[in-house]
Amino acid sequence: MGQVYAVTSGKGGVGKSTVAAGLGFAFGKLGKKTLLIDMDEGLRCLDLMLGADKSAVFDLSDILMGKEISDAVYKIDGADGLFLIPAPRSVGMIDAYLFSAFAKQAAESWDVLIFDFPAGMDFSLYSCLPDGALFLTVAAPDPVSVRDSAAVGGRLLELSCAARLIINNFRYSFSKRRIFRGIDDIIDSSGLQLLGIVPYSSELMLLPVTHSLKPKSKPMSAFLRIAKRLEGERVLLPNLKKL
Ligand SMILES: Nc1ncnc2c1ncn2[C@@H]1O[C@H](COP(=O)(O)OP(=O)(O)OP(=O)(O)O)[C@@H](O)[C@H]1O
Ligand SMILES: [Mg+2]
Repeated sequence: MGQVYAVTSGKGGVGKSTVAAGLGFAFGKLGKKTLLIDMDEGLRCLDLMLGADKSAVFDLSDILMGKEISDAVYKIDGADGLFLIPAPRSVGMIDAYLFSAFAKQAAESWDVLIFDFPAGMDFSLYSCLPDGALFLTVAAPDPVSVRDSAAVGGRLLELSCAARLIINNFRYSFSKRRIFRGIDDIIDSSGLQLLGIVPYSSELMLLPVTHSLKPKSKPMSAFLRIAKRLEGERVLLPNLKKL
């Protein structure tokens, strides 16, 4: 049975899809057969972000309507062991019962599943994930995102979901000058244990154009640290000044 991760956030645009893709690259690099599932029905993101939009014919809704999982799985070019199931093109296509059966079946054949959920407080599909799923709540250091991460973190804890915090878009200079909230404040607000910090980076901003990350870049190192921590390795937080 593979590891199942669900990337969530309260506020939109905080970098969930970027983090999901980055973790996908990282797990692939660690030799894990990794499947990203784009849950943002109607909008979609990861196919374009990862350069699979031209080859993607089928999507999650086709699987739920009876196609084999493998029919809607697309290999990501240039990324070791990384595959994608695109999101449905229209809304209302994800039936909870069928989705639950799909998620269980997929977890049997993959080392790592990463579900990229839409932002917000609709938690209806969360209980359909296989037992042991870990929710990765992404928060940026701006005040709106921090307040929203508190709402999501609190709700996940109420639902007894195992959840961790990933801080994205971190800029040491902003934190030092107290323009944005510091790491400790964000952790306290969300009520979640910190898993890792991803720096603000032009390389990540350009991911939808380049579809790749440089192996030794700061963002890739951040994603590798998070992936290794999730694999149970003891990985220290980096020096925030150098992140
Ligand atoms: N660490 C980062 N550094 C620089 N730009 C980033 C970073 N993370 C995300 N971005 C950029 O921010 C924008 C939003 O990112 P992304 O689409 O991953 O957010 P999201 O939370 O998935 O959004 P949505 O709620 O719409 O699904 C994108 O343009 C992305 O390239
Ligand atoms: Mg997204």
